Amino acid sequence: MDGNGRWANRRGLPRHLGHREGIKSVREVVEGALDAGIQVLTLFAFSTENWDRPPQEVTALMGLLKLYALKERIELRRQGVEVHVLGDLDRIEPATRRAVDTIVDGTRGGTAMRLNLMISYSGRAEVLRAARLLAERVREGDLDPDEIDDAVFSEALFTDGQPDPDLLIRTSGEHRISNFMLWQLAYTELHISPVLWPDFDREDLFAAVDDYQKRDRRFGRVPSA
Ligand code: IPE
Ligand code: MG
Repeated sequence: MDGNGRWANRRGLPRHLGHREGIKSVREVVEGALDAGIQVLTLFAFSTENWDRPPQEVTALMGLLKLYALKERIELRRQGVEVHVLGDLDRIEPATRRAVDTIVDGTRGGTAMRLNLMISYSGRAEVLRAARLLAERVREGDLDPDEIDDAVFSEALFTDGQPDPDLLIRTSGEHRISNFMLWQLAYTELHISPVLWPDFDREDLFAAVDDYQKRDRRFGRVPSA
């Protein structure tokens, strides 16, 4: 979800108002994804690197996360959306952490769609964490290094048990992965949208899905007959 700052800049507004506007896009995309029958929607909301932004911006983003968790819980539950929050959550301050726990607990069991909110997350940190978890199991004598294959490694990631993403949408026209799901994106289709996140709506989501449906996915093999 990129482009909140530029959206605000272009209007002569402070950056935090761009982030606030971005919440509407989250709502739009969650509802659009539900209507499109998408089973897993993952939003990169706050990266490990974002902790290095000015403290007032970090505070504003955490405030919005708390607000979102408290305000959307009931509606998401009603819609059958099961929310998971993935990342290094120990870095989040207690009040926000409690709000996060509330939305996770309050939506557990939803079967229409899984919504992953990636918070304090980066792909490299996730891979390192997995390496550490596996090394620990080897040290305990619970795992033989030769047993570490794709499946075992995937299980040590935050996304344990979930399919790899079919489609990655990057907003605001940037052509970068920016440390997102480095392991899981191996064969994901990329869609770069020029639209800034606060302007991104259901039509933009559907355009991305349309684009995806035209792709020929070969996973390194030859085209299917
Ligand atoms: C949102 O957009 C990303 C978040 C950290 C929430 P940005 O804040 O990166 O916006 P730009 O890139 O400055 O436009
Ligand atoms: Mg940005």
